[in-house]
Amino acid sequence: MNLITATGFGVRRSEETVAAWRSLMPADSVVVACDGDEVVGTALFLDLQLTVPGGAVLPMAGVSLVAVAPTHRRRGALSGMFSELHRRMAAYPIAGLEASEAEIYGRFGYGPATVWERLEVHRRGARFHPDVPDPGGVRVVRPAEHRAQLEDIDERWRRQTPGGLRTPARLWDEILADREESREGGTPYYCLLHPDGFAFYRLYGSDEKNKAEVTKLAAATAEAEIALWRVLVGLDLKEIVGIHTHPGHVLRYLLTDPRLVRTTSVEDGLWLRMLDIPAVLQARTYSADLDVVLEISDDFLGRGGRFALQVRDGHAQCAPTTADADVHAEVSVLGSMYLGAHRASSFASAQRLRANDSAVVAALDAAFVSDVPAELGYGF
Ligand SMILES: CC(C)(COP(=O)(O)OP(=O)(O)OC[C@H]1O[C@@H](n2cnc3c(N)ncnc32)[C@H](O)[C@@H]1OP(=O)(O)O)[C@@H](O)C(=O)NCCC(=O)NCCS
Repeated sequence: MNLITATGFGVRRSEETVAAWRSLMPADSVVVACDGDEVVGTALFLDLQLTVPGGAVLPMAGVSLVAVAPTHRRRGALSGMFSELHRRMAAYPIAGLEASEAEIYGRFGYGPATVWERLEVHRRGARFHPDVPDPGGVRVVRPAEHRAQLEDIDERWRRQTPGGLRTPARLWDEILADREESREGGTPYYCLLHPDGFAFYRLYGSDEKNKAEVTKLAAATAEAEIALWRVLVGLDLKEIVGIHTHPGHVLRYLLTDPRLVRTTSVEDGLWLRMLDIPAVLQARTYSADLDVVLEISDDFLGRGGRFALQVRDGHAQCAPTTADADVHAEVSVLGSMYLGAHRASSFASAQRLRANDSAVVAALDAAFVSDVPAELGYGF
């Protein structure tokens, strides 16, 4: 199996790393495709905990290590493995994954549900706006010596962030081990710690392209976020500080010259696939009242149908109905809308969400928007 995944992704993980991830795999969560005695494909899922808007946490089957041998591609191995893998997800209302290529997973009902924007701050000449406070309180620390505090901040951050994931102790072991193979040519981690936030970063490059890349920033308060950015933007000798984050990040609003913050790429992050549509729609809170009948198609698993969704004071009731539908869409569209990162009106413009009345689309936009931007907790 390690050989198939190494061939698929071009990386080999250490035994310790494999063991840490294996500790998140429920029994029977691995499926392989075989040609005779030979394993030619793999797919598995991890037992993850996903935060949804409003702070509820759903058990999520986190699909990972999907690979088919280059000798056996485009013969249905992935489709066969996915049918079996999803049959084994009976305990999960929702599944998620990260996609190596965006063409692959829509057919299985997955939709992109968070957006990864990479920002670069060209920090020479960058100044903070005079109205922005300077809260201080940040220390440079050795992360292993502050593990309990880091875990506590991460827990607070993920509980309030749609798309956040619980980081189990075995994964903290891995983060703190800081293995050479995960550094991608960068230095070991540096760690900045504030009572309500932390940032890990690595340094890259030669004299002419000196770069600090933030690999994780978790801030449980707005003050902690500002305090950490004050230090990161102040990293003398570095030309650029980079981070992958959600759209609309505060960084541009902190500086007198927002042009010094450039977007270098925009990609999808977490993809979501609803397995129990009413349970998932009832789990999150909403920003406006709503009365709508959704007709959801699901060719892959047949879990779609017609559902009445009613929201009052932020909370939803959702149940199958025989009433006429107001809205028609594929289950992947609902996955994309779920954390608020993509709007119903965007899909309506593309004719991928069809409503009899444009007021229904506006009502969906108003209800599904999330005041906390969605962000993938960590890669899996
Ligand atoms: C992606 C991968 C797993 C697909 O496996 P596969 O066995 O070739 O896929 P299947 O033959 O079951 O294809 C199922 C359908 O998806 C389509 N498909 C599969 N991979 C695709 C891709 N990369 N781009 C576009 N379409 C793709 C097939 O054309 C097929 O469509 P059809 O049902 O309309 O005929 C395989 O190419 C692979 O291992 N790639 C390298 C590793 C990787 O990227 N893994 C995914 C990690 S997220």
